[in-house]
Amino acid sequence: MSTPRLAVLVSGRGSNLGAILEAAAAGALNLEPALVLSNVAGAPALERARAAGVPTAVVSHRDHADRAAFEAALDAALDAAGARFIALAGFMRVLTAAFVDRHAGRLVNIHPSLLPAWPGLDTHARVLAAGERWHGASVHFVTAQVDGGPVIAQVRVPVLSGDTADALAARVLAGEHRLYPAVLSWLGSGRLALRDGQVWMD
Ligand code: GRF
Repeated sequence: MSTPRLAVLVSGRGSNLGAILEAAAAGALNLEPALVLSNVAGAPALERARAAGVPTAVVSHRDHADRAAFEAALDAALDAAGARFIALAGFMRVLTAAFVDRHAGRLVNIHPSLLPAWPGLDTHARVLAAGERWHGASVHFVTAQVDGGPVIAQVRVPVLSGDTADALAARVLAGEHRLYPAVLSWLGSGRLALRDGQVWMD
């Protein structure tokens, strides 16, 4: 069987994308990065993709009248790339239930918290303000509930005394860069699946 193709959707910096592309180059991803798609034309992530020789596309939400039209354009690009799996990596658009359902079990996201704790934005500052002892990141299947889909795996890091939001974010991010390629490699090998809304590992 040929290696399934992966599309990575990005909006910004692309450090998780970088970790994914490194794993692919090392032969450790079990997926072929076939497309890096951004909704932001100037996203630094696109430069990382080009440097790695991975095809890129820009589909701006601003060029489309509504979410359905934007997502139809996303689907056209994903189909053209033959993408079987889709990894959201700092993709800053909320996807509709229709899109998420079309790609159920093939669409994953990384979120910088120990879900179900701290969905949403600015997790590091909120975790610090709440006096939490532990923080981390989660990879989950995407459902229509933002940051609410079934969690596949997590990485946990301590909150240290004197932490700033930036220091904590950097500690979490280092964990993200180990976690995301590992989870994607399980998807690629077929060990991991979503069945009846539940995470299954063989
Ligand atoms: C990461 O913290 C990820 O968990 C969140 O957005 C950030 C993206 O960072 N979804 P990068 O673009 O991968 O560097």
